[in-house]
Amino acid sequence: MKISNISLVVLLSTFFMIIASSSSNPTDFVRRSCKTTQYPDDCYKSLANYMPPINRSPRQLAYAALNVSVDRVRSVSTFVARMSARPKPKGLRLSDPDRSSEDGAVQDCMENLNDSLDLLRQSIHEMGRLGRANSARFKLHLSNVQTKVSAALTGETTCLDSASLSPAASNVIRTRVAKAAQATSNALALINQLI
Ligand SMILES: *[C@@H]1O[C@H](CO)[C@@H](O)[C@H](O)[C@H]1NC(C)=O
Ligand SMILES: *[C@@H]1O[C@H](CO)[C@@H](O)[C@H](O)[C@H]1NC(C)=O
Repeated sequence: MKISNISLVVLLSTFFMIIASSSSNPTDFVRRSCKTTQYPDDCYKSLANYMPPINRSPRQLAYAALNVSVDRVRSVSTFVARMSARPKPKGLRLSDPDRSSEDGAVQDCMENLNDSLDLLRQSIHEMGRLGRANSARFKLHLSNVQTKVSAALTGETTCLDSASLSPAASNVIRTRVAKAAQATSNALALINQLI
C-alpha cells in the first residue's frame, strides 16, 4: 500500500513536470532568444504570437521575425503613400521651397521603404531554401539573407534620418518607421544566431 502510494506520487509528479516543461519551454525559448536582440521586449511581444509553430526552432523563430518585419514595413509604406497622396492645402504655391523639399523627402523615404520591403521579401523566400544546417548551401543562402536584411535595415534608417521631413510629418512617419526598423533589427539579430 505504502509503496504503491509512493509510486503514485512519483508518477503524478513526473506527469506534472512534463506538462509544466512542455508548456513553458516555447515561451522561455522565445524570451531567451530575444535577449540577444537590441529590442528584447518588442521581439518577445511580437513573436509570442507565433509560438506554436516556432516550437524551439531558431530557424522558425528567425523566419517569423522576418514576417513581423515585412508586415510592419508594408504597413508603414502604405501609410506613407496614402499620406503623400493627400491633397495639399489650398493656396500653397507649387514653388514653396519648404513644401517641395518635404515632398521630396517623403518620396525618398517611401522609395527606401519599398526597396527595403523588396529585400525582406526576397530574404523570406531565401530563408525557405537554406537546406541542411552548416552545409555549403546553407552558408551561402544565410549570408545572402544577412546582406539583404542589413541593407533593408539601412533603407529604413535612411528614411528615419531624412532631415527634410517637417516636424509634423516626421513625428507620424518616424514613429512608424522606427517600429518597423526595430522589427528588422530583431530579425537580423536572430538570423545572425543561426550561424
Ligand atoms: C508568415 O506570415 C504569413 C502571412 O501573414 C503566415 O501565413 C505564415 O504562417 C507566417 N509564417 C511564419 C513562420 O511565421
Ligand atoms: C511604394 O509602395 C507603395 C505601397 O505599395 C506605393 O503606393 C508607392 O507608389 C510606392 N512608392 C514608390 C516611390 O516606390
